[in-house]
Amino acid sequence: MYHKPALLEESLDALAVRPEGTYVDVTFGGGGHARAIMERLGSGRLIAFDQDEDAVSNTLKDERFFLVNRNFRYMIHFLRYLEAVPVDGILADLGISSHQIDTSERGFSIRFDGPIDLRMNRRLKVSARDILNEWEPSRLARLFAEYGELEQAHRIARAIESARKVKSLETTGDLKSAVMHMVPSHKLNQFLAQVFQALRIQVNNELDALQELLTQSLDVLKPGGRLAVISYHSLEDRMVKNFFRAGNVEGKINKDFYGNVVSGIKALNQKVICPGERESLENPRSRSARLRVGVKL
Ligand SMILES: C[S@@+](CC[C@H](N)C(=O)[O-])C[C@H]1O[C@@H](n2cnc3c(N)ncnc32)[C@H](O)[C@@H]1O
Repeated sequence: MYHKPALLEESLDALAVRPEGTYVDVTFGGGGHARAIMERLGSGRLIAFDQDEDAVSNTLKDERFFLVNRNFRYMIHFLRYLEAVPVDGILADLGISSHQIDTSERGFSIRFDGPIDLRMNRRLKVSARDILNEWEPSRLARLFAEYGELEQAHRIARAIESARKVKSLETTGDLKSAVMHMVPSHKLNQFLAQVFQALRIQVNNELDALQELLTQSLDVLKPGGRLAVISYHSLEDRMVKNFFRAGNVEGKINKDFYGNVVSGIKALNQKVICPGERESLENPRSRSARLRVGVKL
């Protein structure tokens, strides 16, 4: 299977799909969530986005469906062009697809030795390889601290600098060899996952894209429309949580003259939705998934 959708039932219920509604799946991937939305649609339509051209081969042959092979940060422009605004619901299942993880040439996985690329959109000019070989150590350290939440960020940067003096870092294996001595073997996988996460966020400018998506949703959703976001790490989840609490990703609460919170959106559930024990066992990749749902006011 291309991608086993995480929190499928929960996210579909959260969207409360109306058969005649217009929906947007901004992270089409293997189309698992999209197919399930289509099953609940009658005369409505689904517009999907994915910046990875590999996702295009999964497109759905259905006249109610349209796939845009672009970054979701341009969502509002495409939706206006397609005369689809306002919409009833938006789904974002962030992060990378199983297809991306399992394709060794893309460099997303610590399990395979492949070129250290990490671009979701291969039209981007800068890959992880360029960052690893060209960035100043102090800039690398900031990247690992901010996006990898790694305490040893400076040591990692120094280890990379030493390794690349001998030979440029070209593969996931080169990166692994450069930094693996820094942690005991039982902590290695988690450590490498954070190192890769930091690089991936930078290469794909993921946090800026998410901020733009969240902000645009306020101009795209109908009042009562739903925004369902599945995130996979705390940096994204914090932004989503703040957005549903305060209407902005910084979580800055704005109040009117009477002390009422001024925001265009509110959280549907107070608690974050996580996969149950069964889903975590059947689909280990879903384990870190966190679903939050907002309703446009
Ligand atoms: C976790 S997968 C989604 C899987 C999908 N829900 C399914 O059921 O098959 C995430 C997908 O979103 C895409 N993606 C991530 N960030 C994106 C962005 N800013 N713009 C467009 N696509 C993005 C990735 O290329 C990847 O295919």
